Amino acid sequence: MKPNYSKLIQEIETFMDSGISRNEILLNTCILLKDEVFHYDWVGFYLLDADKTVLILGPYCGKQTEHTRIPVGQGVCGQVAESLKLKIVQDVTKEGNYIACSLDVQSEIVVPILKNGLFRAEIDIDSHSPAPFTVDDESFLSKVCEKLSTLF
Ligand code: SME
Repeated sequence: MKPNYSKLIQEIETFMDSGISRNEILLNTCILLKDEVFHYDWVGFYLLDADKTVLILGPYCGKQTEHTRIPVGQGVCGQVAESLKLKIVQDVTKEGNYIACSLDVQSEIVVPILKNGLFRAEIDIDSHSPAPFTVDDESFLSKVCEKLSTLF
């Protein structure tokens, strides 16, 4: 069943209005998205470090990953940090610049969080489904990232 994307946005707004910390808001968002969207199997945030060369893993929900630091430019996450553009990989076996986290992952979407045009962080979502991402994911996750950008 198609998720109710506008209800999910409202829930994220509720987290943001509730006075909890940025990390708690991001973690609650991960849990919400993983629970409510069938094809989201791992949801996490990577934040740009102070010297702007490495992405540091922030709150996430799903299998533990050893990729807690990703250099800008490396993997799908690192590419988005450089291009500042959302990236969808519908089949990870066809992506040359990809860092594998788990053999279950078939596809991935990464959406940048920009503040005043500058890259600050990103949401990374892995899926165990083949080619599941549509324009609905693009528009929904872009809205989520725009909302969350006010936290940075
Ligand atoms: N697959 C990502 C690495 C992060 S894991 O998905 C959690 C990449 O290629 O950048």
